[in-house]
Amino acid sequence: ESLWAYAVPKLKEKQVFSNQLQPQASFKVAVLGAGGGIGQPLGLLIKMSPLVSELHLYDIANVKGVAADLSHCNTPSQVMDFTGPSELATCLTGVDVVVIPAGVPRKPGMTRDDLFNINAGIVKSLMEVVADNCPDAFIHIISNPVNSSVPIAAEVLKQKGVYDPKKLFGVTTLDVVRANTFVAQKKKLKLIDVDVPVIGGHAGITILPLLSKTRPSVTFTDEEIESLTVRIQNAGTEVVEAKAGAGSATLSMAYAAARFVESSLRALDGDGDVYECSFVQSELTDLPFFASRVNLGKKGIEAFVSADLDGLTEYEAKALEALKPELKASIEKGVAFVHRTA
Ligand code: NAD
Ligand code: LMR
Repeated sequence: ESLWAYAVPKLKEKQVFSNQLQPQASFKVAVLGAGGGIGQPLGLLIKMSPLVSELHLYDIANVKGVAADLSHCNTPSQVMDFTGPSELATCLTGVDVVVIPAGVPRKPGMTRDDLFNINAGIVKSLMEVVADNCPDAFIHIISNPVNSSVPIAAEVLKQKGVYDPKKLFGVTTLDVVRANTFVAQKKKLKLIDVDVPVIGGHAGITILPLLSKTRPSVTFTDEEIESLTVRIQNAGTEVVEAKAGAGSATLSMAYAAARFVESSLRALDGDGDVYECSFVQSELTDLPFFASRVNLGKKGIEAFVSADLDGLTEYEAKALEALKPELKASIEKGVAFVHRTA
């Protein structure tokens, strides 16, 4: 079984990862913030994909060594490094997918929103260059607070007249990865079979795992629902505290981000059966952005899996209502930032 069979159950038969494979497709992927805690392992995982022909690594420092190191792996893609704003436009020209993990991570005691003051400006300035150089690319935003940084990215793209809401994604895959892991452990299920949709946003109570929609179908006690939901919502903080000042999740995040990249590339390559949760512009609720499962295709989001929101349990329906004010405020904060600093 391939590595990604665990991440993406449908790949069970496909054996996607092997350093023996010839390139099956030739997509170009850029990582902005490639020298960082997420960027480095993410670069490695993307370097393992046979769907990638060029891997463009960008950071404000320390990216040359990372690129030299990765370039020795005998997998098909060519690795190129780009340092500092003067090289960013070249880095982005012609890329199919841009992944943005640039920005500072949390330390114990901080919320993701505490990162806003630094990361909002970083995301805005990177997005201006993305808008000018690869407006048709799939854009994956990892930088926190995701609930605000995705609306920031959208506003920049709108101001530049190139916004395609079907191609802008807040990466919430780590919430799904965690939910799948914790549910499989608790219910003693085979990891490869478990899939839990996670909706809402990516911070505290805005992260809402829909345990009632777990596949395979499984029953939970009220106590299990409460403890699993809280663990999934606090999993980021669990890592921040364990790292004790040395940052937040990097390895599991790189794994999750690489899964989302791989899914996007499969969609771009014409696979019609690609589903992922992501924080995107949405009409599923009264909020302008909302994480849910979406079907990905060549042009980005093909369809929203609205059925996930049908028949919610009382616990889930209450949690959905409870998360809305916080998520709404975070979205509005991001939009206001771009207008204030225009
Ligand atoms: P890190 O500090 O290890 O790395 C960040 C990298 O960004 C550094 O290499 C830094 O040089 C670079 N950077 C800073 N400003 C830049 C700019 N203007 N242009 C390009 N690169 C720039 O941090 P990390 O652990 O990799 O985390 C990065 C971000 O990802 C944080 O905001 C963190 O909160 C977020 N994160 C999100 C999720 C999620 O689920 N979406 C999960 C984990 C972490
Ligand atoms: C996570 O969920 O691990 C990330 O959002 C990083 C963090 O600050 O918790």
